[in-house]
Amino acid sequence: MGASSWSTILLTALTVVNAQSAYSSAYGVYGNSSTSGHITASPTAATATVSQYFHGDAEGYVLTSCSFSQINGTATTYSVQFTVPASADVGPNVLPNIQDPHAKQAQTLCPGYTASDVTRTENGLTATLNLAGSACNVYGTDIETLALEVDVQSAHRLRISIQPAYLDSSNISQYILPDDLVHLPEQGVVQSDTQDVDLQFTWSNEPSFSFTVLRKSTGDVLFDTRGSVLVYENQFIEFVSQLPQDYNLYG
Ligand SMILES: *[C@@H]1O[C@H](CO)[C@@H](O)[C@H](O)[C@H]1NC(C)=O
Ligand SMILES: *[C@@H]1O[C@H](CO)[C@@H](O)[C@H](O)[C@H]1NC(C)=O
Ligand SMILES: *[C@@H]1O[C@H](CO)[C@@H](O)[C@H](O)[C@H]1NC(C)=O
Repeated sequence: MGASSWSTILLTALTVVNAQSAYSSAYGVYGNSSTSGHITASPTAATATVSQYFHGDAEGYVLTSCSFSQINGTATTYSVQFTVPASADVGPNVLPNIQDPHAKQAQTLCPGYTASDVTRTENGLTATLNLAGSACNVYGTDIETLALEVDVQSAHRLRISIQPAYLDSSNISQYILPDDLVHLPEQGVVQSDTQDVDLQFTWSNEPSFSFTVLRKSTGDVLFDTRGSVLVYENQFIEFVSQLPQDYNLYG
């Protein structure tokens, strides 16, 4: 099942020849779901409603009704009952790229980001991430500039946010879920320079922006993006972290 959409185009003052050919092509394509009847009158003007149908890559037109004003003033209306074609149930062939040996590999094609303007804040840091090379645009369009924000929210909670630096009301909902859907944990009171903070954030620009998060009390590395590039596009985000064997990641 795929998303389908309809738009209706009202064609006025078609010649009967056009209307008849639209009718026959509709009849031909969806012959089994159309109705009976042939257009035999010789009117001077005709009005036809043609619905345009989109399904995946497929697109078609179906005549849904037409009427003719005849020379002697009578009007004849034909209605063509439309039934969604069986092909509407067949979605486009989508092979997940992890199973497609020919899929473009974002990790080898994309440049990653470089952090700059790193600024300490009360509870962490902010930085700007800029594309570290030419855009790869593998599965969408690379976002040039990202904003990184790291906040130590409590002794055991670190918040890392990476989002497009420039967002406004026209596109923010594409990237940021509203607070009533996903409520973000709030900033707790932390003295970030005390020894109590258990999570340590370390970042590097070599060879491109990466970071690690270490839980100091156990020595566990919770996130480690070294050896990978961050890919941030309008339709695709790839963030790679090393995981130990048999590790569970929630969220
Ligand atoms: C119309 O019906 C015939 C016979 O039942 C069938 O072979 C044909 O595929 C059908 N055409 C469409 C467009 O559904
Ligand atoms: C109008 O013309 C059509 C076709 O020429 C004819 O069938 C119909 O009876 C006519 N109607 C009137 C009211 O004369
Ligand atoms: C969001 O829209 C603004 C203004 O239309 C534009 O400047 C900005 O680049 C857009 N951001 C993204 C990530 O597309």
